[in-house]
Amino acid sequence: MKILYIGDIVAKIGRRAVSQVLPKLKEERQIDFVIAQAENMSTGNGITKKAINEMQDAGVDFFTGGNHSFKKPEGVELMNQPEPNIIRPANYPGNTPGRGWQIAKTPFGNILVINVLGQTFNGPLLDHPLKTIDSIIEQNKNEKLLATIVDFHGDLSSEKVAIGFYLDGRVTAVVGSHTHVSTADARVLPSGTAHISDVGMTGPIDSVLGVKKEIILDRWLNQLPNKFDWPKTGVVQFSSILVDVGSNAKATQIEQILIKTEIS
Ligand SMILES: [Fe+2]
Ligand SMILES: [Fe+2]
Repeated sequence: MKILYIGDIVAKIGRRAVSQVLPKLKEERQIDFVIAQAENMSTGNGITKKAINEMQDAGVDFFTGGNHSFKKPEGVELMNQPEPNIIRPANYPGNTPGRGWQIAKTPFGNILVINVLGQTFNGPLLDHPLKTIDSIIEQNKNEKLLATIVDFHGDLSSEKVAIGFYLDGRVTAVVGSHTHVSTADARVLPSGTAHISDVGMTGPIDSVLGVKKEIILDRWLNQLPNKFDWPKTGVVQFSSILVDVGSNAKATQIEQILIKTEIS
């Protein structure tokens, strides 16, 4: 079975790139299940129903989130619905809306997807990411799972590498998100877990993490609180990884797939 994970889709331009690239890629590479990092999917960050519908039409089956999951009130509403398959970080404390993990039912079998936020920079009030994942794995130990995929949404490369080793052999893949910059360290770890520190974004390349570069530079140079804006046209990099799942929910291969596409 082949699972594709698409890195942070940024704004409308990122969604248009997914619609342009994904249907053909799915067919060519015989991809069975598609997960997308959705926290920046709507322009201005956050998630809307319109964005979800567009991405489902393009072939996305499951949506993960991050520190921007709750940016739009509509997204908060969506988190509480049984459908679609959409999760937010599992290590928020208290009565945060939505769910931090979910089992997706596919014709091939069940896939558990878990989302956690890294602690460094994202806040000391979060529950411990590693202990949170331990507890979710324990809760699901009697489930018959085809694969378990962990989306680790964090800043620090050391945390991102360490969590791969922590979960090696216990989950199918640990994929990093949030920095919007792809790393070149995709590999299958010694005990059969596919890992990459960060998949990178699906957004405009002539931008700073998806936002118009002039705005970010002006803010930095002049300390003016210029409003963020996102390019509407230009070259977009579709950033993804493809994981081949073998027996016992272990990964047999991980491949980084980066595709540049023009949005006019
Ligand atoms: Fe993001
Ligand atoms: Fe993020």
